[in-house]
Amino acid sequence: MLELLKKRRSIRKYTNEKVSDEKILSLIQAALLSPTSKNSKSCEFIIVKDKDLLSKLSNFKPGASFLKNADLGIIVMGNPSLSDVWIENASIAASNIHLLSQEIGLGSCWLQVRNRNYNESTSSEEYIREIFNVPENINILAVISIGCPDEEKDPLTEESLNYSKVYLNSYSNKYLK
Ligand SMILES: Cc1cc2nc3c(=O)[nH]c(=O)nc-3n(C[C@H](O)[C@H](O)[C@H](O)COP(=O)(O)O)c2cc1C
Repeated sequence: MLELLKKRRSIRKYTNEKVSDEKILSLIQAALLSPTSKNSKSCEFIIVKDKDLLSKLSNFKPGASFLKNADLGIIVMGNPSLSDVWIENASIAASNIHLLSQEIGLGSCWLQVRNRNYNESTSSEEYIREIFNVPENINILAVISIGCPDEEKDPLTEESLNYSKVYLNSYSNKYLK
């Protein structure tokens, strides 16, 4: 698991190769296997495979255009009426999708939707809600872009870890490795 966590990087460049249905199914399973507070199962997901829809989705905020070159996007959503901590629940699911992507040889990147804007008058959430028919009672956290990687990034190293952010027993006592 630590090796996987070191190798996991955000991948924003993808080849034209298709992601197999089997791999897509395993990503869905990773999402649905994620824990939720009080077992509320507050998360929902839209798998976006259609190229035209992916292209439209990639306009949801500045800087998201690399999404149109992904093979698929997964819109990660939460139902706040099922859980007051829908954000945490959805974040764990998004993270599990991102991690499993790495494990099965895919590249992926988290694209933040919540608190982001399409333009001055429309939030990213409103923009996506309209295109994908997401009802008003469902909130949108993020989109995960997924594809066969067309860039390689160095794994994270143990030397780069910021142990100064870790304390032992008290905030006034740094954890010493
Ligand atoms: C909550 C969250 C939101 C993020 N939003 C975006 C985003 O909107 N666009 C993007 O390109 N990357 C996004 N990222 C990826 C981060 O930029 C990336 O994880 C960070 O720079 C570290 O790089 P690494 O993932 O390759 O280790 C997000 C990551 C997290 C955890």
